[in-house]
Amino acid sequence: MELFKIIFALKSIGIQGITHAVINSIYRSIIDKKYAMKNTNNEKIYPGKRKNVNPISCGLKVVFSNAEVEIIFLSNDLIRITWQPGSLPLPFTLDDNHWQSQSLQIEVSTDGEIISCGDIAVKIDQDGSITIHDIQKTTLRKDLPPFRIGECWSIITQLKPEEHIYGLGERASTLNLRPGEYQSWNTDIGGSYSSGTDPLYMGTPIYLSLSSSGYHLLYFENSFKSRFSIHDDFTASFEGGALRYYIIFGPLEKIFNNFSHLTGFAYFPPKWALGYHQSRWGYQSEKEILEIVEGFKKHHLPISAIHLDIDYMDRYKVFTIDPDKFPHFKNMAEQLDHESIKIVASINPAVKQDNHFKLYQEGKSKDLFCKTANGEIVKGVSWPGRSVYPDFLNLTTRAWWADQYKQLLDVGISGFWQDMNEPASFAAWGDPTLPITTLHSINGEKRSHLEIHNLYGYLMNKAAFEGVSNDSTKRPWIFSRSGWAGLQKYAWNWTGDIDSTWKSLRQTVSTILGLSLSGHAFSGVDIGGFSGSPDAELYLRWFQLATFLPLFRTHSSLNTKRREPWIFGEAITNILRDFLKLRYKLLPYLYTSVWQTCQSGIPFIRPLFWEDPQDNSLWDIDDEFLLGDNVIIVPVLTPGESKRKVVLPPGKWFSYWDDHPYIGKLYMDMDISMEMIPIFIRNGSILPIEEDGGMSFHVYANINAKSMNNMYWDSGDGYGDFRLDTYQLEVDSELTKITCESKGAYRPPFLEFNIIVHGTNFTQASVDGRSIKILDNSVIVPPFQELILSK
Ligand code: GLC
Repeated sequence: MELFKIIFALKSIGIQGITHAVINSIYRSIIDKKYAMKNTNNEKIYPGKRKNVNPISCGLKVVFSNAEVEIIFLSNDLIRITWQPGSLPLPFTLDDNHWQSQSLQIEVSTDGEIISCGDIAVKIDQDGSITIHDIQKTTLRKDLPPFRIGECWSIITQLKPEEHIYGLGERASTLNLRPGEYQSWNTDIGGSYSSGTDPLYMGTPIYLSLSSSGYHLLYFENSFKSRFSIHDDFTASFEGGALRYYIIFGPLEKIFNNFSHLTGFAYFPPKWALGYHQSRWGYQSEKEILEIVEGFKKHHLPISAIHLDIDYMDRYKVFTIDPDKFPHFKNMAEQLDHESIKIVASINPAVKQDNHFKLYQEGKSKDLFCKTANGEIVKGVSWPGRSVYPDFLNLTTRAWWADQYKQLLDVGISGFWQDMNEPASFAAWGDPTLPITTLHSINGEKRSHLEIHNLYGYLMNKAAFEGVSNDSTKRPWIFSRSGWAGLQKYAWNWTGDIDSTWKSLRQTVSTILGLSLSGHAFSGVDIGGFSGSPDAELYLRWFQLATFLPLFRTHSSLNTKRREPWIFGEAITNILRDFLKLRYKLLPYLYTSVWQTCQSGIPFIRPLFWEDPQDNSLWDIDDEFLLGDNVIIVPVLTPGESKRKVVLPPGKWFSYWDDHPYIGKLYMDMDISMEMIPIFIRNGSILPIEEDGGMSFHVYANINAKSMNNMYWDSGDGYGDFRLDTYQLEVDSELTKITCESKGAYRPPFLEFNIIVHGTNFTQASVDGRSIKILDNSVIVPPFQELILSK
């Protein structure tokens, strides 16, 4: 253990915790030694000689002397390849298993077979290598024959010299992961990490490839511990299971839509989740929580949620509340709810091993915990000390766990923060998780921890989502540290215990973009970093970045300096307040964009290359991003600067601050200040903003443009009526015309809107044929079908 970790451990778990961690490491080694299976076979086994070829529904099966492969077109741009032997994946991560059957052409020749569907053809060579090309015979991807060593499949994909690789879940790496070595083995990094740490909490094996011949997304549906080595080639190795992967081709929008059909669309959260959240490990009591909320009021800082870290529990026993520290929990929750502030509580999977603890007794008597091969309950160590771990693979355990959320919902907790679910088990040395020989059960059948470990957090979230969804009046809101492919169906996530440095602030942008490109559309970071004490400037810059991330939360470790937004003095508080207000002003845009992501699968936060993926000069830009369809955010990521390099993708963009127009593609240096980070709005867009108690639509247009802009409305929670207004904007040299079509029965709370035009001055306006007054280049209109502005 490095010195930092020892100090961190001492401060956070104390001597007794460290003693437990030492005992745990010894226990783990004993258990693993006792049940380990010896694998002495190091021989590489290739598919061997091709024996026969059989057409199967939507594809082909080729049998080799040592292996067989099944190639199936699930749609004309989504291919599934499965090499066996090896057990097939458990189907938990998938959503849609009902793909339409495709019409295929199959050519069989002596040097291999070609199956084609639409524009894509897959060729399987005699040796088992697989080449995919398009209709012009351009090679899109080539996999060399995979091989097995013991139970472990490996596959090498040839990469093009210019090919870029993104994603693989949560990575503290550059946005383009090439070159690099990565592992997928969800890991609690023990209190602090920075750039370069790998693996982290959620290493989803999904990546996006960009090359001059096109784009594709790949999902390895294999949850075993895995390694990815990305250099001249891309080598992926899995410690067990069949080698199954999906490849999705097409334009980026289509790829992400298809991927969401495969692994599930993100659930639509309640609107309050998009507000500001305040958290700190160490808020000890009801009294302290109410004081914090008072602080927000006193400083006129809006807030939507306050988080309770493990301190609210009775001796860290999950699903309990300490009655001494929180004597009137329900009253407190009601009072806060009255002020539109929600409570979010930390939930950990580790259940204290304590014969007086009801949850433990119940889980034990119902046989719901993870076990060793001879049926003993596996032990680990977490915040409550010696603990046991629910076996979330078991349906009965999930149903039981799902039921537990009710008691917390009943006392007024609205959101759940699912932590330590890699699962984490403190270890003085060795892997800080359960013994590798732990077994999990599904329908009476046993599965190894090597396979289930990476799914553990995912399955815990599945249980939580099912439990919290039982309330038919409110939408669930859950965020999680660990998870796997498809987590978006159940939970958001955050990037865990990052350290409080400028380097980590910079890292955050790539990490969150990588998560987005792995299907995890909604994530966030601890503002200011978790493990240290940022100075005012670092905290401010981090806060400004997070203003535009899905999860907008300040959180920090025990023993760090306080960082409520008024701690750094009035000058900083004033700027933080402006950014908080900006976030709340933007809520109609953010909520609509979130809704669009949940409908389409298109990421909410996108790298700049999204604008023009053929332009390889945009492929490495990892310090700016797109927020929804129409906004570019350029966070300031270095200290003491008065200028910031900015890249604008093709098109016309307006500065949010002064409406100055810029034509991309453009590289420039921009003046910045503590009060300002560059923000750009796309020409031709309509930005819905809630301000001064009313609703405004800011129209940015001064050259020819045609666009479609949505505005989604509902009550912000629950499953009632909605309304979708779709505005078509057409701009030419004389006129700007906006037409609106509406769907849905929800009645927006505004009877009129302010339409503010940026970039062009108008002298005349008419709404639905009736002329109206223009004041300061803006008009006040009722809901309309057609608005015409002319010069
Ligand atoms: C873990 C979490 C952190 C939390 C702490 C105590 O380190 O990542 O956010 O504050 O546990 O619960």
